[in-house]
Amino acid sequence: MDRFRPSAAASATTGGDDIVLPENFLFGTSTAAYQIEGAAAEDGKGPSIWDTFTAEPGRIVDGASGAVACDHYHRWAEDIELMRRLGADGYRFSIAWPRIQPTGGGAANPAGLGFYDRLVDALLDAGIRPMVTLYHWDLPQALEDGGGWLDRETALRFGEYAAIMGDLLGDRVTHWCPVNEPNVVTLYGYGEGVFAPGKALLLDALPAAHHLLLAHGTAVQALRASGAGDVGTATSHYPAWPRTGSDADRAAAGCFDTLWNRLFADPILLGRYPGGLGEAMPGPVGEDLALIAQPLDFYGLNYYHPMGVRAASEGSRLPFERADVPGYPTTDFGWPIVPEAFTDLLVEMAERYPGLPPIIVTENGCSYATGPDESGVVDDRPRIDYLDAHLRAVAAAIGRGADVRGYYCWSLLDNFEWAHGFTQRFGLVHVDYDTLVRTPKRSFDWYADLIRAHHGTT
Ligand code: NOJ
Repeated sequence: MDRFRPSAAASATTGGDDIVLPENFLFGTSTAAYQIEGAAAEDGKGPSIWDTFTAEPGRIVDGASGAVACDHYHRWAEDIELMRRLGADGYRFSIAWPRIQPTGGGAANPAGLGFYDRLVDALLDAGIRPMVTLYHWDLPQALEDGGGWLDRETALRFGEYAAIMGDLLGDRVTHWCPVNEPNVVTLYGYGEGVFAPGKALLLDALPAAHHLLLAHGTAVQALRASGAGDVGTATSHYPAWPRTGSDADRAAAGCFDTLWNRLFADPILLGRYPGGLGEAMPGPVGEDLALIAQPLDFYGLNYYHPMGVRAASEGSRLPFERADVPGYPTTDFGWPIVPEAFTDLLVEMAERYPGLPPIIVTENGCSYATGPDESGVVDDRPRIDYLDAHLRAVAAAIGRGADVRGYYCWSLLDNFEWAHGFTQRFGLVHVDYDTLVRTPKRSFDWYADLIRAHHGTT
């Protein structure tokens, strides 16, 4: 819809508290279906690999699952009302593929289509641009049973699913991210087995990377064919920081950078695999790369922190080990807080990838456990400090020439944090998991003030 298209002019205006961002900058929040929806077996939804994985003892630290999560499936109207109060320009959410195609193929489930159809209309009514992620990790279990992302067929099925969604929502959804963090799916899901589907194949997981990239390509093609809005990505970028200055740690960091960052960004943005990895990939790799590297309208990037990397120790089965990043404060998740690495990443992306489309930060945020005090206030000052510092980091990157068009905070709500269950809270809104009551935190008010000041609506 034209009224939601950012104009090309990006004149700087002053936002709240001197955070200077371009005039048409988009402020949003992000969520994902399995992390918030609940209703895991309602209205014809099929089981996903996360339903299966969470049912296996010992997989999730607190033994939880997303069976109820934030119950967003039933409380979506209340959640949109929260976003309206926030004054957000955009909202990024994911579609649960097994709600649309319970076994990952064939006719679409009308109840699943209806849910997202209503959600998108209600967002537009609230003046919020919908950004849709098609795959945020909840693969239909039936597809996993046939090989999952190790099987080329999954990527082809994904194209059919993308076409269904493009036909349904292409006239209203302004931004599309086909696959969220294919690096996490490959390494954690198929390489180390700490996320669904729990396969520990180490480097034998590499075919999953290729099929996730191919899925990105088949989805871009299908979305273009249905005349959908802007199409991009949502790729995790961890700047790789060698734990020490030793040659071995530096080499390990280079290896991590290749396998985590370049393995996905290079095929999409340059049309080739880094470090000869194309030779490890299945299928007609050259042909596939042409599909994978189709031009995009934006590059969606998720940033949380730099990753410390050290040389693999004796007996280690991967060519690197993840390490801490000493000398920085950490969030309650133990993640280092390094906003300057965010600035550098955003600036260096354009250097690494000439012709890079505009960047949208599709996720950034932090976990703090702060709950309501005796008067019901959730005073999460550390989150405000984190968000403030990271928005300043975006502004600094733009000042150094990076073309960044938006920032989507992870997350609107506290939610199910994958293998960490409900132990980590990323929300601007606190969720009481017993009562499902939502309480906007102080950070919510801070973000709302910032957005209002930016748009000159205070
Ligand atoms: C990235 C993932 O996309 C999201 O699902 C997760 O909750 C956040 N990182 C925080 O770990």
